[in-house]
Amino acid sequence: MASESFSVNAPEFNQTCSELTLRPVSPAIGIEVCGFDIRGEHESSLIDTLKEALAEHCFLFFRGQELTPNEQVSFSQRFGKLEKHVLNDYNLKDLPEIYVLSNKKENNGEPVGRAGAGQYWHTDLSYVKNPSFGSLLYAIEVPPNKGDTLFANMYRAYDALSEPMRDFFEGLKVVHDFAHTQRTYIEPAGLTKPASAEQLAKTPPVEQPLVRVHPKTGRKSLYVSPGMMTQVVGLNALESQAIINFLVSHTTQPEFVYRHRWQKGDLVFWDNWASMHCALDDYGPDDHRLMHRTTIEGQNVL
Ligand code: SIN
Repeated sequence: MASESFSVNAPEFNQTCSELTLRPVSPAIGIEVCGFDIRGEHESSLIDTLKEALAEHCFLFFRGQELTPNEQVSFSQRFGKLEKHVLNDYNLKDLPEIYVLSNKKENNGEPVGRAGAGQYWHTDLSYVKNPSFGSLLYAIEVPPNKGDTLFANMYRAYDALSEPMRDFFEGLKVVHDFAHTQRTYIEPAGLTKPASAEQLAKTPPVEQPLVRVHPKTGRKSLYVSPGMMTQVVGLNALESQAIINFLVSHTTQPEFVYRHRWQKGDLVFWDNWASMHCALDDYGPDDHRLMHRTTIEGQNVL
């Protein structure tokens, strides 16, 4: 096991930068973009630099940001058109491109956002035909030393496969099913109301390639979303489950994984095509966590 993979926010992360600096977050995945104010007017060439760093390293992290929802949306739109999440009760009413993730409640008991979201390995919107290219998550309130998120690098997971396994996986397709996620994780946790029949009807199961070629880097990665995968197409049930089990244990090895410890004001931007993530369920109802997510569509980007 590569112990460096678990170095959480090495001390230099907390040092400010007088100029734009890109520095690795961990050996596994990620770049910290230091000395950058999301709210500024940014030249296209600078946005292109960020796109390249994201495609190569799967994860960008900007510390110490102070963003309104509109500022988050404007910055996110520099990278593509934004999704409005199908669980629309948790989108901001006047700005539905912001999907609110939170365990907080209003004074009347109504949830502030979606509680317990993403507490299983997945990549966002793998259950739609053209899955999201990237997501930006902004930390407004975080419980101290809890509620971290794990990120895994799927280029590295692909590269570590043996040649026969790569050959076997090439051309395979996997069914990703939002209803399965609801039944398996969301409903038993009981933290949020179940998806409605109308929301489920908008998200029928889809087939996704197991191996993707990233359009920007040309590199191959495993496209794995364990919380949503139900069946490897063409294999029988036993074979399919064995492959899914293998994919989970292979892709979540520590050397592919970085654990992000959130601070208020962090904005993390990840590439959904070449990484996956898992929010940790280690905090209680009084440990308040409030995040705003913007999610970039999977079409006409880069
Ligand atoms: C998500 O899966 O988008 C949420 C991740 C998190 O809340 O840390």
